[in-house]
Amino acid sequence: MGNSPYTTLRICVNYRANEQLPSCAARGSRELLEALERGIEERGIPLKVDTVHCMGKCHLGPTMRLLPRGPYIMGASVDDVMEILDLLAKQDYDTLAKRFPLPAEEDAR
Ligand code: FES
Repeated sequence: MGNSPYTTLRICVNYRANEQLPSCAARGSRELLEALERGIEERGIPLKVDTVHCMGKCHLGPTMRLLPRGPYIMGASVDDVMEILDLLAKQDYDTLAKRFPLPAEEDAR
């Protein structure tokens, strides 16, 4: 397995108190973060996990992105963690991005 082009998996953990507004934490990102952090450590996947407060795609979250300048991974839940970990371990980032895509109209933002 070659070196990964990505060093970091960034996850939005923003929670908006106003329930009228969507946010990643309200859509399950903190549970997702916990499960991914645990799995990445257990499997020895060479990625850092960091958190951020909003990437501007709140209604599509949980919002994640591979850095530097990698694909967004959108709308995953804890039920998807095993699949995400498998794809990260294989460095199959194309499949990962297709499985949890950023809708095309959001791409330009
Ligand atoms: S709250 Fe996560 S992208 Fe805005």
